[in-house]
Amino acid sequence: NKGNYEHYMQKEIHEQPESLTTTMRGRLIRGGSCKSKSVLLGGLKDHLKTIRRSRRIIFIGCGTSYNAALAARPILEELSGIPVTMEIASDLLDRQGPIYREDTVVFVSQSGETADTLQALDYALENGALCVGITNTVGSAIARKTHCGIHINAGCEIGVASTKAYTSQIVVMAMLALAIGDDTISSQARREAIIDGLFDLPSKVKEVLKLNKEMKDLAQLLIAEQSLLVFGRGYNYATALEGALKVKEVALMHSEGILAGEMKHGPLALVDETLPIVVVATRDACFSKQQSVIQQLHARKGRLIVMCTKGDAASVSVGGSCRIIEVPQVEDCLQPVINIVPLQLLAYHLTVLRGYNVDQPRNLAKSVTTQ
Ligand code: F6R
Repeated sequence: NKGNYEHYMQKEIHEQPESLTTTMRGRLIRGGSCKSKSVLLGGLKDHLKTIRRSRRIIFIGCGTSYNAALAARPILEELSGIPVTMEIASDLLDRQGPIYREDTVVFVSQSGETADTLQALDYALENGALCVGITNTVGSAIARKTHCGIHINAGCEIGVASTKAYTSQIVVMAMLALAIGDDTISSQARREAIIDGLFDLPSKVKEVLKLNKEMKDLAQLLIAEQSLLVFGRGYNYATALEGALKVKEVALMHSEGILAGEMKHGPLALVDETLPIVVVATRDACFSKQQSVIQQLHARKGRLIVMCTKGDAASVSVGGSCRIIEVPQVEDCLQPVINIVPLQLLAYHLTVLRGYNVDQPRNLAKSVTTQ
């Protein structure tokens, strides 16, 4: 049921304030007077000790689910102190990469049925690792075969392009980081700030959704382009990859997410006055580095669209020439949840304006059950 919306993708983008609320329901605790703030993940409680003792945490997924894990990786490393590595399921299988008994392997999948992820799960089980599932489908193969897990609870996602599952997956993995991390005095302020940030997230997403009209205007401007680059780094490297994936899969426009730190190692050669480039430059520890990336792209006459924190337009707009997308600020590790929303809207409007099928992009299936 699409309700008042024309397409499922549109509905699922706009229902993110609600899907995020459902994902967090009953899991965040802002205790009474003497109890501090904490996270309760029922499906993990018997395994937390083992996870904390593991030598390495490996995230495995495909497509958008991989990108969600990439967005959560920095906060998991920060709070757990355990090395976190990333694997695209098919690539791990191609290499038959080493997995050990001392590893915790986290499988991220909206459908819970993706063939590559499922096969990687069989492989990790054979190698004796502790396997954790993060899926949006109760009773799915990945939910059943893993030792323990967390349901995403984002509600059924129908549009082939994943939107609300992505933001809920990031929130689930941020809660996972809080659950694994030790409640030490030194990390207490940071943990509480993240928990407060999670509570506020649905209202901030509501706020960023107000950019709908602006994103439609931007889509109109980009309608006939051949290509779009998206630059990000740090927490928002994932935003660049995921924004580009949305544009290419539904709007059928070539788009590439680029790690801004790699700019000088090749991508800079593409920059000219015609190619549109989105730069994600919201406030976090990487902000000044992103400012210098913007300056360098500007010096090559790049056609820039800069995403920045509200009030920062003047600090990112070199020569007053770039288009600006201003988004509300949240705790740095949660910023990817906010920043992807304008790019989801852009991909949606680009698709409709270009006359393509939004909910069933050419050649794609919602659940990839073959290899
Ligand atoms: C992109 C998209 C795909 C899926 C990928 C994994 O919008 O939907 O990239 O994310 O096929 O699917 P799941 O999460 O079901 O394992």
